[in-house]
Amino acid sequence: MCKDERASYKLKPMHKQIAIDGPVASGKTAVGKLLSEKLGWRFLDTGLMYRAITWLALDEKIDVSNHEKLVTIAMNSQIQLIPSDRGDRFIINENDITDSLRNRDVERSVSLISQISGVRAALITKQQEIANSDSIVMVGRDIGIRVLKYADVKVFLTASPDVRAKRRMAQTFEANPKATLQMVKSDLERRDLIDSQNEESPLLPADDSVIINTDKMEIDEVVEAIMKLVVTE
Ligand code: C5P
Repeated sequence: MCKDERASYKLKPMHKQIAIDGPVASGKTAVGKLLSEKLGWRFLDTGLMYRAITWLALDEKIDVSNHEKLVTIAMNSQIQLIPSDRGDRFIINENDITDSLRNRDVERSVSLISQISGVRAALITKQQEIANSDSIVMVGRDIGIRVLKYADVKVFLTASPDVRAKRRMAQTFEANPKATLQMVKSDLERRDLIDSQNEESPLLPADDSVIINTDKMEIDEVVEAIMKLVVTE
């Protein structure tokens, strides 16, 4: 991209945007959240939106092959993020489902439901609307390449499968105390494979993403590294 193109590219968003992408348990959520707190910007974990639609589909016993119905619920669901002293609460159609979003059934089906083109289109529209209202740190899989193409800063976090499995194990212990490291690792590898084969939004860094390997970095260090890329005026 030449310098002039890049200058107009940077002018497009009305508010500041940081896009953070990466595979399962690469540290996106922890890093994005802390970064948004430091900057005083809004935070959106788009994975939770795909999980919320998956939860709703399971609750309403909609089969993953029923694309038409899944697209309808993705288009018609009211998704809200409400701040609380226990962290942000995730409300869908007036139900607080925050504590169910990481359960094993959701985990098992979410990547399949995320493949459906109409589900993605509905959620991407909602994500772009949210980004239009305020400066934002948004994390996911396709934020830099698709959702916020004109983000001021784009970061792609990576980490080895072993490190990611250990991190995810620590996070999932409460939800599933019987999980073993091997189970967690093969589950995340399975989801990475499905996500990387997504034709419309493959799990890939954008051409202008900064790639950060977080294997040997603490969350604070990753946040510091991203802060250096942010120009605030
Ligand atoms: O980030 P998290 O693991 O919560 O995301 C759950 C799933 O949602 C991912 O495995 C992926 O299939 C899907 N996802 C997506 N696009 C995004 C965010 C998440 O397809 N922007």
